[in-house]
Amino acid sequence: MEKSTVIGTNRTGIDMSPIDIKEMVALANATPASSPGDEQAIADMRGQYVAEAGVPGSIPPPGTLKGVASTAMQKLTGKNPEAFIDKLGCRLAFERSGVRLYDALIAKCSSVSAGSSEIPLETLRKFRNEELQHFKMVEGAMRSIGADPTAQTPSADVDGMASLGLVQVLTDPRTSVAHCLEAILIAELADNDAWQLLIVLAERMGMDDMAREFGVALREEEDHLIHVRQWFRKAVLDDAAVTH
Ligand SMILES: [Fe+2]
Ligand SMILES: [Fe+2]
Repeated sequence: MEKSTVIGTNRTGIDMSPIDIKEMVALANATPASSPGDEQAIADMRGQYVAEAGVPGSIPPPGTLKGVASTAMQKLTGKNPEAFIDKLGCRLAFERSGVRLYDALIAKCSSVSAGSSEIPLETLRKFRNEELQHFKMVEGAMRSIGADPTAQTPSADVDGMASLGLVQVLTDPRTSVAHCLEAILIAELADNDAWQLLIVLAERMGMDDMAREFGVALREEEDHLIHVRQWFRKAVLDDAAVTH
């Protein structure tokens, strides 16, 4: 695998020019903040915004109740189906992003500079296709309770925001396979936890068949996590030349 770390002219640290340390510290001390106030003022300002803000989105009412199994609707009666739909929408969006993350990792591992990448592309493609299957699984689950899988739910929105950095790491042409594996590891850790929680939620909503189906996805996600963790660990140890 290609080396992730190289020695170069990194100028971000103070040790690059010890002769200038005194002057740099003096400048930092002499330069006041651009606005008055301290951390408390920032917290107060945020508090004001929080008090005035609305919510990041809402759950659309079911577009059609036609074709929705009445047993499904009965099971959800007296519960809060919108909270369930929110999390289903979140999983759906995350699995779709998962496909794109793996697509980017496959492109990275197939690139000339990472030609010596030891990660089997076949396994990556398998994981990528499983993420797609999970996306379809959640889509079907949403339709079965009359929810619109094309609507972006609030949790999906928040999750998308949180995952932005991962996509950027994967698609940055300068990042190494190891950098990308670290980003995928973050995604898979979150994914594993989210599936576990979604299964509990489905069970408590009385959706036992759905929960069982989600169990299949969770087992595949566990396999993804084991592999990605192993690849990342090896990449870091190899980079430090301490594999053995
Ligand atoms: Fe996933
Ligand atoms: Fe996964």
